[in-house]
Amino acid sequence: MPAQHSVHVPLGTRAYDVLIQPGILSQAGALVREAGLRASSAFIITSPEISARYLRTLRDSLSQAGFNAIATHSVPAGEAGKNWDEFSRCCAALLEEFPDAGSTPVVFLLGGGVIGDLGGFAAAVFRRGVPFVQIPTTLLSAVDSSVGGKVAVNFGGVKNIMGAFSQPRLVLCDPNTLQSLSDRELRSGCAEVIKYGLVCSAALLNRLESGDLQRLLQREPETVTSIIRDCVALKAAVVAKDEFDKLGIRNVLNFGHTIGHALELSADYQLTHGEAISIGMLAATRLSIRLGRCGADILSRLQNLLSIANLPSTFPASDGLFERMDRALRLDKKFRDGKNVFVLPTLPGEWKQEEDIPWELVHESMRECLA
Ligand SMILES: NC(=O)c1ccc[n+]([C@@H]2O[C@H](COP(=O)([O-])OP(=O)(O)OC[C@H]3O[C@@H](n4cnc5c(N)ncnc54)[C@H](O)[C@@H]3O)[C@@H](O)[C@H]2O)c1
Ligand SMILES: [Zn+2]
Repeated sequence: MPAQHSVHVPLGTRAYDVLIQPGILSQAGALVREAGLRASSAFIITSPEISARYLRTLRDSLSQAGFNAIATHSVPAGEAGKNWDEFSRCCAALLEEFPDAGSTPVVFLLGGGVIGDLGGFAAAVFRRGVPFVQIPTTLLSAVDSSVGGKVAVNFGGVKNIMGAFSQPRLVLCDPNTLQSLSDRELRSGCAEVIKYGLVCSAALLNRLESGDLQRLLQREPETVTSIIRDCVALKAAVVAKDEFDKLGIRNVLNFGHTIGHALELSADYQLTHGEAISIGMLAATRLSIRLGRCGADILSRLQNLLSIANLPSTFPASDGLFERMDRALRLDKKFRDGKNVFVLPTLPGEWKQEEDIPWELVHESMRECLA
C-alpha cells in the first residue's frame, strides 16, 4: 500500500482527519469505524458518472464494516445541480429512508464540490445535523471544498447563499479516483492549487513553477498525492484560525472568487468553478497592481502558471454580461453596507484584504476579463 498522509484539522470537539492515500476508498468502512462512527446505516450521495465508477467499492467496504442498510441518492453532475430543488430532493430522500429518529445514518459524500457542498448542507440540517464523511473525487474538492465545513447551495442567482458551517467527521481522499477526471476538470482544480501558491505559500508557488504543476497535470501519482497533502495542510491551518469566517483570516481562500463567482454565475455555467476563478484571480491581481499593493512580477507569475494549466484569462463579452456580473458582484456575501471587499495578492504567498475600493477601478478590472 502507498504511504498514507494524514492532515489533522484541529477544531476542538469538531476536529477531524483528512486521510490521503491511493486506494483508500476500499478501506472506507474500516476507517470510518476507526474514526468512532458506529451507525449501522449509511446514506451515500453521489452523481451518476461517479457512482458508475466508484460506488461499488465504497458500498462493499461499508458492508464489510457492518453497515447493513445502505441507501444511495443521486444528484445530477455539475454546478447547475447545486440548487434548492436538488437540495430539497436530497432532504426528501433522507427523510424517506430514515423516517424515525432512532436510525441516524452516516452520510457519505462521494463526488466533487457540488456533491460535497449540497450533500453536506443536507447532512448539516437533517435532524439538526447528522455525521458526514467527505470523499472528494475531483482535484478541486480534494484540495479545497471537502475540508473546512462550508456547505451550501446556490439560490436566487447567488453562489452559496443558502448554507451552513458543518464540519465532516472524516475526509477520505483517494487520489486514484482523479485518474478518471476529464482534463478540463483536472485543470479546473489546478486553479485552486495555484490560488494557494499565490496567496498562502511562497514555497508551494516555487514548487509549482519548478515542474510540479506539469507533473500534476500529467497525473504523476506521487505529485498528485503530495500536492493534495500540501494544499489540505494550508487550508487546515487557515480554517483552524477562523473556522466561522469571522476574523477575516479565512477570506484568503476567496482570492479570485469575488469577480470569479460573479462571472461563474453570469456566464450561465459555461465556465467551471476553477476556470471562473482563474479569470477572477487575474482580475484581483490587476486590481492589486492598480492600487499599488503588488508588483507586475506577481501578475506574470500567475499568468505563467495559469497558462501552463491551460486555464482561461478572459471570457467572451456579450450583451448584458457586464451588467449581470456587476449585479451578482454586489450580492457578494463579504460586502457590507454597500462597501466592496477584495482579497489582494501582495508578495509571493502573501495577501491583504481591502475594503471600499473605488468602483471605477473594480469595473476596469472586470472589463479586462471580458474579451
Ligand atoms: N465548500 C467549499 O469550501 C468550497 C471550496 C471551493 C469550491 N467549492 C464549490 O465546489 C464546486 C466545484 O466543485 P468541482 O470542481 O469538484 O465540480 P463538480 O462537483 O461539479 O464536479 C465536476 C465534474 O466532474 C465529475 N466528476 C467528479 N469526480 C469525477 C471522477 N473521479 N471521475 C470522472 N468525473 C468526475 C462530476 O460528475 C462533474 O461533472 C463549486 O460549486 C464551488 O462553489 C466549495
Ligand atoms: Zn473555489
